[in-house]
Amino acid sequence: MAEARLIDGKAFASGLRERVGKGVAALKAETGVTPGLATVLVGDDPASQVYVRSKGKMAAELGMASFDHRLSAGTTEEELLTLVARLNADPLVNGILVQLPLPKQIETPRVLLAVNPDKDVDGFHPINVGRLGSIAPGARLDFPVPCTPLGCSMLLADALGSLAGLHAVVVGRSNLVGRPVAQLLLRANCTVTIAHSRTRDLAAVCRSADILVVAIGKPGFVRGDWIKPGAAVIDVGINRVPTAEGKTRLVGDVAFAEALPIAAHLTPVPGGVGPMTVACLMYNTLQAARRKAGLPFVAV
Ligand code: GUN
Repeated sequence: MAEARLIDGKAFASGLRERVGKGVAALKAETGVTPGLATVLVGDDPASQVYVRSKGKMAAELGMASFDHRLSAGTTEEELLTLVARLNADPLVNGILVQLPLPKQIETPRVLLAVNPDKDVDGFHPINVGRLGSIAPGARLDFPVPCTPLGCSMLLADALGSLAGLHAVVVGRSNLVGRPVAQLLLRANCTVTIAHSRTRDLAAVCRSADILVVAIGKPGFVRGDWIKPGAAVIDVGINRVPTAEGKTRLVGDVAFAEALPIAAHLTPVPGGVGPMTVACLMYNTLQAARRKAGLPFVAV
């Protein structure tokens, strides 16, 4: 069988960012409004620092205002809620991103609930979770949708066109990725199975998938013989593993070299889903600013 076509998330994300940048310029010209994104990082986790920095940098590159808030690892829930309330009330802020995970003294659901749903560019507020969970097939996504799942669905639509009637298996049931991906695939008229660590005969379930989305955070967990020949495989995993030379490298949740000759479409790691997350955050921030300005939703 021919090798899989790699799904080039890096290139797609670059195009999306360019379209968002044009959308930002058009909004400014039309209304004088500059979209603003506030990022909040609690603590000093190095990976989170890298992510938050890239989000602020990207916002600035696309002509948005970026407000970077760093709080110490010992921050109390009350202190964080005070900052969120201030950002909710700030007219220059259209999007609020509280980087997860939060330190254990803070109850994450309380913080997510405190973010104004209109500024919830992560799509994690229960109102937005509920909107996604009750959306009609094919209905417009005119509310914030979690960034990584949105990126996965954009890549699939680009690679396959219509997803209607396909069997999609999502491995992983997290609130960040698995569940919202499943909702987006259902909206796209897939038949959706959510599999997880307790699923019986996971390999056989995966082998029944026309679309396989893997988001479990286990390097190389999905093997080549778990994949149906001709399937589209979206690998959401970003795992840092040691190399023989004593360095580290990034690998996904799918055994890439094994999957390559079997799948028809496959996302690489890095360069697949990863770059889509920040690009979709920019997209959500632009849409939030447009909604605030009373302008209709535009697909970019
Ligand atoms: N941590 C890992 N992924 C994400 C994300 O998409 N949003 C936020 N806020 N935190 C994260």
